[in-house]
Amino acid sequence: MPTDKYVDNTLKELRKSFAATSADLWMMISCFHDEMRHGLSGESSSLKMLPAYIDCPGRQEKGTYLGIDMGGTNLRVLLVRLQGDGKTVIEDSKQYKIPRKVAMGEGKDLFDFVAKAICEFVGEYPITHQNKIPLGFTFSFPVKQTALNRGTLVEWTKGFAAGDVVGRDVVEFLNGSLQRCSLKNLRLAALTNDTVGTMLAKAYGSSDCDMGVIFGTGTNACYREQEKRIARLMHSDAGKRMIVNIEWGNFKHFPANKYDRKVDKGSNNPGVQQLEKMISGLYLCEITRHVVRDLIGKGIFLNDHVAKFRKGKLSTEDMAAFERDRSPELKKVGIFLTEQGIESSLEERKIIKQICRIVSRRAARISGAAISAVIIWMDPELRQDHTVAVDGTLYAKYPQFRQNIIKTLQQLHGAKSNRIKLSDARDGSGVGAAVAAAVAVEAN
Ligand code: BGC
Repeated sequence: MPTDKYVDNTLKELRKSFAATSADLWMMISCFHDEMRHGLSGESSSLKMLPAYIDCPGRQEKGTYLGIDMGGTNLRVLLVRLQGDGKTVIEDSKQYKIPRKVAMGEGKDLFDFVAKAICEFVGEYPITHQNKIPLGFTFSFPVKQTALNRGTLVEWTKGFAAGDVVGRDVVEFLNGSLQRCSLKNLRLAALTNDTVGTMLAKAYGSSDCDMGVIFGTGTNACYREQEKRIARLMHSDAGKRMIVNIEWGNFKHFPANKYDRKVDKGSNNPGVQQLEKMISGLYLCEITRHVVRDLIGKGIFLNDHVAKFRKGKLSTEDMAAFERDRSPELKKVGIFLTEQGIESSLEERKIIKQICRIVSRRAARISGAAISAVIIWMDPELRQDHTVAVDGTLYAKYPQFRQNIIKTLQQLHGAKSNRIKLSDARDGSGVGAAVAAAVAVEAN
């Protein structure tokens, strides 16, 4: 048995390597601004700063639109009615799990899968076969757009690797698949990132929404920028604004520890998406797994059961359940360990829970700093109110994640943090796809 002192010191070391002190966060914010500046001026930067070719909607758009939301794990098809005055109604929606085989297969098959889902969905609405229904497509990956309905995939993230899509126009891909499904009455009017969709959905009803954020399988944000500051726009209008998709998951100036480096090495996209690998749902469990294996190796706990913590055994959902577990014997942790064939003591279960907390707390603090960086880029003195539309399972379901972000904002900005309002935007990216389609139709 290791001595209590040895266990305490090891956990202390661990906490240190996951610290995100205020000083660390201010340093991050300063680097973030440098990277935003470089990205906007078209210089090399870990922040892609991709113009979205759309600004916030008014509140007057009306009509029925189809929204397609292709996220990290699921595909959602929605029929959305915009009632005007900022009100939306989801008339119907259906969710499809994207099989891993499809996400890793050929691009054509992936988009055929999307088109088939749309086909099945609209099949239930004969009316849509008569009227041309505009379609908004939320595609949650980095896309370099040249217009609202045109854009090439820069790279896959979140474990996707469908062949032959990178560098090609995703709208053409989807249109091709829609044609093959004989869905000639659908017209792809708008392509947006999920952060942009989330922001549009919120901004339709709330005029001070100027940022959209996702904390889910992956992470990213967008915000409203002055067109004149976006160097790569061919035509910018001095008085106008445009939403910019930051792709902050790729930010690389928060110091990585040895566990982050292991996660990166074991991922299918090493060297990129460093921030995403510290924050988002796909990776928090991997960080935790590496910590657990390391501490077992150090003789802290769980005997020599390292081999039982293979990749994929622990999910971020499990971590959330452990952190939520308030039973005196930490039942949830115990059940998980028993399922892995490990008998555990209460002390050992407590250590697992502590590790989850250390990992998730750092993620939330970095997330808070990233939000802060974008808000003070727009409004350095925090003179105005900012509504930040936020969606994603990590944010919605992981215990204390949201609260820890708020605490971080308070720590960074004191009383002025009241100016930053995090506003839940459930279903935002799907509804936002429809709002984007409406904006596109109005513009024509
Ligand atoms: C993608 C972003 C997306 C984010 C959240 C990241 O992996 O690069 O485009 O917005 O995940 O879904």
